[in-house]
Amino acid sequence: MNITIHSGNWEELQVDALAVLAAKGASVNPELDARLSGLLSELAGSGEFAAKPGECTVIHRVPDSSIGRLFLIGLGDNTMPRHWFAAAGQAVRAAAKAQCRSVALLLPEGAPTRLIAEGAGYGTHRPSGYQEQKGWPVEEVILLAAGEQAEMDAASATADGMNLARTLVEMPANDLGPEEFALRAAQEGAHAGLEVEVFDEAALEEMGAGSLLSVSHGSVRPPRLVRLSWQPEAPASDDHLFLIGKGITFDTGGLSLKPPKSMEQMKYDMAGAATMLGAITAIGRLQPSVRVSCLLAMAENMPSGTATRPGDIVTAMNGKTIEVINTDAEGRLVLADALVYATRLGATHMIDAATLTGAVSVALGNVRVALMSNDRDLADAIAAQGRDCGERFWPLPMDPEYLEPMRGDMSDLRNASADRRAGTITAGKFLEEFVDGTPWAHLDIAGTAWHDKTQPHSGKGASGIGVRTLVHLAENWGAQ
Ligand code: BES
Ligand code: MN
Ligand code: ZN
Repeated sequence: MNITIHSGNWEELQVDALAVLAAKGASVNPELDARLSGLLSELAGSGEFAAKPGECTVIHRVPDSSIGRLFLIGLGDNTMPRHWFAAAGQAVRAAAKAQCRSVALLLPEGAPTRLIAEGAGYGTHRPSGYQEQKGWPVEEVILLAAGEQAEMDAASATADGMNLARTLVEMPANDLGPEEFALRAAQEGAHAGLEVEVFDEAALEEMGAGSLLSVSHGSVRPPRLVRLSWQPEAPASDDHLFLIGKGITFDTGGLSLKPPKSMEQMKYDMAGAATMLGAITAIGRLQPSVRVSCLLAMAENMPSGTATRPGDIVTAMNGKTIEVINTDAEGRLVLADALVYATRLGATHMIDAATLTGAVSVALGNVRVALMSNDRDLADAIAAQGRDCGERFWPLPMDPEYLEPMRGDMSDLRNASADRRAGTITAGKFLEEFVDGTPWAHLDIAGTAWHDKTQPHSGKGASGIGVRTLVHLAENWGAQ
């Protein structure tokens, strides 16, 4: 999506829609108010438009202009980053629903233009095209504000990354298995100027990825590991950040089969990998001065005569043995090998994203991403970037005791503890066994990767959470 910035007046533009982002109690644009014979001040004065977050009032037509729809979008008072982002997304969705081709956003002075442009780009995401739908014609988004076009281009790249992640997460598993996902990742990666390498089943066997392979054994669809790398011409440091994603294209639970209600949504179990792909494609376009690589661990978790059995013991790439207590704890098995491989490739910092545990929804609901780490600086940097761009994280403790239930009787580790206590943390502690002391952070996005309800800035479907934080982290690497 192209987003442009225009520092002049709204009257100079030929657009189908104008959206006014209005904070509580803010004064109305005098020219616009005059053109509407004082309607705006009337709406504000009567309290009919109170500028609450999520509020949208529509006015049909601004006289003597091309504007067929005027939207008043509320920002609330004390506007936070996620409110700016959401208001912009809401404005674009309102315009799209009214069949407008172009929309301009009129912003209060000092508004965060990068965030707003990202929100506007987010609002352009279309449902994935499996049903007949009305047109979604927004082709042009203009921010009416002072600012640089380069910032808009960066925001576009970031929003495109988010929307790529959302599109892939929303695809049904019959159309997106590991092979299709890997192919798409390779295409998108090449397009973003990244180096691409795809490992098939034979390559994974050679690498000793017994943990990852144990997950795909039950499926007729072979697994894939995809590496995408951004290599700056003049890196600012020796740092090499790895972004690692869980890419289970469908999670039935395997022989430890999920009940139907829990299985329904499991096409989204590759959201971690989609997040990392979205982030690194944006990074390829933005060209930050830090080296960034991405590893996407893709498999389908199915029950069958060739599936891994509970009690089977598998060997990960670092030689650690794992007893598979529960074949439904498969995410940690594919991530284990990907983490080890990242250390082999010289990772100095690693971040993984995964829809890893149902328990994270018990702990944090669908509001915050759980953040687990062995490195305070990395965890703080992620949380800080999240705060600045309106994505919310919350740290969980990583005391050594939480590893105890993951130790094996017959093996080094077991993939599931004997009970459900602290299920998100015990999964995180399991992953930590494969990072070899490298600074690492784990994002459990199982509660936040999917919107169950339509929101002003988003329909039901994938949220794209995490992409923006990681892109901003790479852009600002070393600066904090
Ligand atoms: N993909 C699921 C996590 C999940 C569960 C996401 C429910 C959303 C809703 C993961 O592979 C899984 O099944 N985890 C198990 C782990 C358990 C067997 C230790 C879980 O959370 O129940
Ligand atoms: Mn599972
Ligand atoms: Zn899973």
